Amino acid sequence: MLNEFKKLKEEYPDRILIASIMEEYNKDAWEELIERVEETGVDAFEVNFSCPHGMPERKMGAAVGQDCALLEEVCGWINAKATIPVWAKMTPNITDITQPARVALRSGCEGVAAINTIMSVMGINLDTLRPEPCVEGYSTPGGYSSKAVHPIALGKVMNIAKMMKSEFNIDEYSLSGIGGVETGGDAAEFILLGANSVQVCTGVMMHGYGLVKKLCSELKDFMRKHNFSSIEEFRGLSLPYFTTHTDLVRRQKEAIQQRKAIKQGLQSDKDWTGDGFVKETESMVSN
Ligand SMILES: Cc1cc2nc3c(=O)[nH]c(=O)nc-3n(C[C@H](O)[C@H](O)[C@H](O)COP(=O)(O)O)c2cc1C
Repeated sequence: MLNEFKKLKEEYPDRILIASIMEEYNKDAWEELIERVEETGVDAFEVNFSCPHGMPERKMGAAVGQDCALLEEVCGWINAKATIPVWAKMTPNITDITQPARVALRSGCEGVAAINTIMSVMGINLDTLRPEPCVEGYSTPGGYSSKAVHPIALGKVMNIAKMMKSEFNIDEYSLSGIGGVETGGDAAEFILLGANSVQVCTGVMMHGYGLVKKLCSELKDFMRKHNFSSIEEFRGLSLPYFTTHTDLVRRQKEAIQQRKAIKQGLQSDKDWTGDGFVKETESMVSN
């Protein structure tokens, strides 16, 4: 892998290469890893504090990302050693993803990336009664990814972006959105929530690297449609439109009252006609 990094940087010196690294809970081992990888000429690190398969007994991956005290300590070692920017990759397998994200940013990381896979059990074989995937009759929970996790990833990125906007100078820190990205539209959604960059994993595994070219061209189509000439022009634009359930109810009540005043849309349940169901529903919830 180190040789591949070196070769890539030689072939594409003007492109950014980010090394994804993971190590066990051992300061010397982290320092050695950082030194060896930096020598290859990579531009930045993404530190995997989020692999659900990371061995907890060796305090690797999500075992660190789920424990803020441990995370602070390990981020401290890494940022003291690294001479290039460091991103911390966050696990979604935690109640409040903003907590480790905040710790990583306060501990010297330049940014955070979210999400890694979601811990799950794929299914149970109803003939053998054993969990899937089955290895010699046994299984272990694994990481769920791809399209199904996209809405969950959007939610987590939205939470982190809001926290970063209110607690950090967002011109100095960055956020990378990951989870179920296959199209330019999927990428645009992360950017609209505040992501500076977007990553693709399973999409490329399933459909090949050609997916990235198509994604970029779809993203450009989206930008043309809205007259955006740079990512910065639409980054975070959707973020202010998240509010509370209580506020949504209040806004809907207000809007219904306004429509009543000008006799527009459905005004009460007795106005349902049945035939106009779709139109009448839209009159209550449309933007
Ligand atoms: C087979 C597989 C291997 C992965 N290996 C890593 C890894 O080594 N390090 C890491 O940080 N994330 C790893 N991930 C997580 C992905 O980078 C990504 O965060 C997650 O799958 C969600 O994005 P996606 O829906 O585009 O796959 C892996 C995911 C899959 C499916």
